[in-house]
Amino acid sequence: MPQIEIAKNIFWVGVVDWNIRDFHGYITNRGTQYNSYLIRDDKIALVDTVKQNFTEGLLSNISETTKPEDVGYIIVNHVEPDHSGSLPEVAKKLKNAVIVCSERGKDAITEHYGGAFRFQTVKTGDELKLGNHTLRFIEAPMLHWPDSMFTYVVENKILMCNDAFGQHLASSKLFDDDIDPAILMEEAGRYFANILTPFAQLITRKIQEVVKMGISPTIIAPSHGVIWRQNPAKIIQAYLDWSAGKAKNKIVIVYDTMWGSTDKMARAISEGAISEGIEVKICKLRAATNTEAMTEILDAKAVIAGSPTLNNQMFPTMASFMNYATGLKPKDKLWSFFGSYGWGKGAVKGMIDEARKAGFEIHEDTLEVRFVPEEEDLSRCFHFGKQIALKIKAKP
Ligand code: FEO
Repeated sequence: MPQIEIAKNIFWVGVVDWNIRDFHGYITNRGTQYNSYLIRDDKIALVDTVKQNFTEGLLSNISETTKPEDVGYIIVNHVEPDHSGSLPEVAKKLKNAVIVCSERGKDAITEHYGGAFRFQTVKTGDELKLGNHTLRFIEAPMLHWPDSMFTYVVENKILMCNDAFGQHLASSKLFDDDIDPAILMEEAGRYFANILTPFAQLITRKIQEVVKMGISPTIIAPSHGVIWRQNPAKIIQAYLDWSAGKAKNKIVIVYDTMWGSTDKMARAISEGAISEGIEVKICKLRAATNTEAMTEILDAKAVIAGSPTLNNQMFPTMASFMNYATGLKPKDKLWSFFGSYGWGKGAVKGMIDEARKAGFEIHEDTLEVRFVPEEEDLSRCFHFGKQIALKIKAKP
């Protein structure tokens, strides 16, 4: 994709990664983009670089826009290698550029790539005048790493916020108004659920801080996915809602099964919940990924997790899911557990132990069936689903 002018003298020079399907465990069915921006003025600044194997594409896009030796600054908003992997090579080509980053960014760059760079560290409120464009920096630790910061182009009201407000979405179209809004919000939600959930409180505080600074962006330009220019307030509001744990009367049943018993239980539980008018999503692991399950959980009030016992433990796919979910710690969900077993239990206790360690709210009752559920067991399952549904309907 050639470079695109997103505002006068501000160019997208990033790359599209159409083929990535696994982003450190996050399943990216629609690929992703590594967005970089080049601001041409008396002094020229490149904002963010790209993943190492796309270095050539970035350098080619920069060269189409300006002479590499004329670039005065490389702004590094975040050092995770999807944005900095090409930095050593890019810094060599942009030989007159100073690297501008947070103090923690300098440490992280040095730890990743050595210290043979010229650095200028910045903190919240610092500004860099390029000519007609002023860059203002806002530190944003843990959005997504301790080093993270945002770069705000004051005159154009463009917030270059790196990982925040992104989506793993590869597209030949660069702007939100060119993308099916349902797909865009689905991918934005999937991204939040699988990357930013642990930092929900920080997100709310950061948005409040940015508003207090008088920053009201007309364009939000993240480093993954498309640029929000039609209605940037929409994604800000979505982030506030997701960060607050805003959810609907929806239950996600996540389970796996060995010989079909846990599957039968899951279906009976779902029927009980549905009988109360609750929306239910079923994610059978090995048919659905952890990524999909967490995306469904984002706007649900309850999770019902089920596993057969294998070797006195959770089924391996459920162990993986619990590990993933307890790391992400989605806010304000009611968790409950069920499962089947043969001669020895273990799965339900294992799931509860993990949930307890993570501080999840846990429904007091559990449901376990030996070998194959009979009619009476399925009736218990139905009532279990109904009981959870009634509980979340009573929740504000
Ligand atoms: Fe897109 Fe935290 O890197």
